[in-house]
Amino acid sequence: MHEDIEKVLIDEDVIRRRLVVLAERIIADFEGKPMVAVALLKGAVLFVADLIRHIPLPMEFELLNVSSYHGGLKSSGEVLFLDNHQPDLHGKHVLLLDDILDTGLTMEAVTKKLKDQGAEDVKTCVLLAKDIPRDTVKEADYTGFVIANEFVVGYGLDYQDRYRNLPYVGILKEEVISS
Ligand code: PRP
Ligand code: MG
Repeated sequence: MHEDIEKVLIDEDVIRRRLVVLAERIIADFEGKPMVAVALLKGAVLFVADLIRHIPLPMEFELLNVSSYHGGLKSSGEVLFLDNHQPDLHGKHVLLLDDILDTGLTMEAVTKKLKDQGAEDVKTCVLLAKDIPRDTVKEADYTGFVIANEFVVGYGLDYQDRYRNLPYVGILKEEVISS
């Protein structure tokens, strides 16, 4: 375990098994439809890479660079689109993938944008969803794990752009955050 990690919340094996279950549900829903997987940088990178290898359907694949946390502990409340990449989504069924549903602002803003770009349908898929009330997206269409309202890192999730490479989801030691 990394020396800055207090506790592993979800280990590699548990993640791997859950992704297979999510993939089966996604396959059943998207089979026969023109599919585009859209993943959000940077947090969704490990999740999407592991998940889509279990989805043997024809699909296009896009990455969108958005940011709401700017490396910190709390959502800034504003979702920034960091590039001008606008794939043509007319008639496409989009699977929108992210690492975590927190305030839901990111999912809400991106879903709206993808529909504006012509997407026929947008289904949301997150590895983690915080168990908190939210006024935005109530829940994703596909959720890996519901977690308590704690700050987590690893498996794509960062603190000040670090810890994304950890193969598990964990909780940082307090002294790492305050220092
Ligand atoms: C984080 C996370 C989600 C979003 C969730 O991204 O990866 O995309 O915030 O928060 P929300 O539900 O409150 O909008 P961040 O903006 O930190 O960028 P990153 O993915 O590059 O780390
Ligand atoms: Mg993100």
